[in-house]
Amino acid sequence: MAPDLSRRTKGLGTENAFEVLAEVNKLKREGKDVVSFCIGQPDFGTPENIRAAAIEAIKAGKSGYTDSAGILEARTAVADYLSRTRSIDVKPEDVVIANGAKPFIGYAVACATDPGVGDEVIYPNPGYPIYQSQIVAKGAVPISLPLSEEKKFSFDLDQLRSRISSHTRMLILNTPHNPTGGMLSRGDLEEIAILAKKHNFWIYADEVYSQIVYDGKFESIASIEGMYERTIVSDGASKTYAMPGWRMGYVANPVLAPHIARWVTNTESCANHMTQYAIVQALNGPQDAPRAMVAEFKRRRDVIVKRLNEMDGVNCQMPAGAFYVYPNVNGAVKKLGMKSAEELRARLLKAGVAVLADQHFGRREPGEQNHYLRLSYCTSMENIEAGLARMKEVLGAK
Ligand SMILES: Cc1ncc(COP(=O)(O)O)c(C=O)c1O
Repeated sequence: MAPDLSRRTKGLGTENAFEVLAEVNKLKREGKDVVSFCIGQPDFGTPENIRAAAIEAIKAGKSGYTDSAGILEARTAVADYLSRTRSIDVKPEDVVIANGAKPFIGYAVACATDPGVGDEVIYPNPGYPIYQSQIVAKGAVPISLPLSEEKKFSFDLDQLRSRISSHTRMLILNTPHNPTGGMLSRGDLEEIAILAKKHNFWIYADEVYSQIVYDGKFESIASIEGMYERTIVSDGASKTYAMPGWRMGYVANPVLAPHIARWVTNTESCANHMTQYAIVQALNGPQDAPRAMVAEFKRRRDVIVKRLNEMDGVNCQMPAGAFYVYPNVNGAVKKLGMKSAEELRARLLKAGVAVLADQHFGRREPGEQNHYLRLSYCTSMENIEAGLARMKEVLGAK
């Protein structure tokens, strides 16, 4: 018999979305017609100019290891981009590049907390599931902060205050937000900044959807006076430039950059060499393709929200950013005699519509009465209409 696994590994969280995805793919292989609203990646190809830059880099033999922080050209392009979009002075030496934005979540938690000593990290619930799993994997204590529909899925500052303690080492923000599409306002960020300074904790600002905004203005907490030094600003190419499989993300922080780069040395060594040239082109080249992509997402958002709100037992807010809707399905769950959104999700899948349920984005908070689904609109308008017609039929059933 093989030796036992560590408790850490046995308890490691995951993105359950990938399990649903495997289920959907299996059904499709079996010939079942499934419209999927599961995937959180743009259904557009990477813009031609970016592909061409990577091909050039390969031809030019850019295939060696690079500095763990990334090549200077890429760090300079990121520093310029973050400086102009966040109104702060980011220097190339503040920047670290890695294979996606995701690895930085674990590196940041590792930089801010020690294992097993009660260091706490506050994170949004519902939220990107990797926050909680990385906090636990690094031996810190996860403190979930419930986001409520009444507050348009931004923060309830009183709830946040009640979760801050002398052990708080970091707060994770995600705006625009996965899974709800909610955004944090400048006013909320200013209040959060006061708390971060008063209680002296780090902020991990997950801003991978910063360029996918439809209403209002994206605001970064890093742009508030005195906040950049304690904020790890994270962004990447996956969502903005339709490049999830290229694996290209980055962070900036003037204090932590060399330490995060050491984590990269210990794990990935460096980001893909040729992809680093692609990001230079993505950030410095023409922006027409990403702009057109956002315009199309907006069109889809408007249709999907309208169609959902036409259904019995569904109430969907208009999300300000990202490419997800997070409808409240209390009425539908009740009407169909179900106990959870997960049950509804399973019923919808049988009817050929793949969505995710609230439980994929965090444990239910005590006293939580509501039920939600998450639909990504990274799929064609035709699929949106067809999938939602099927959903309407299920919800209309007695
Ligand atoms: C909130 C959030 N952060 C980070 C990531 C990871 O992005 P990347 O592909 O850059 O690793 C995702 C991807 O879905 C996300 O939704």
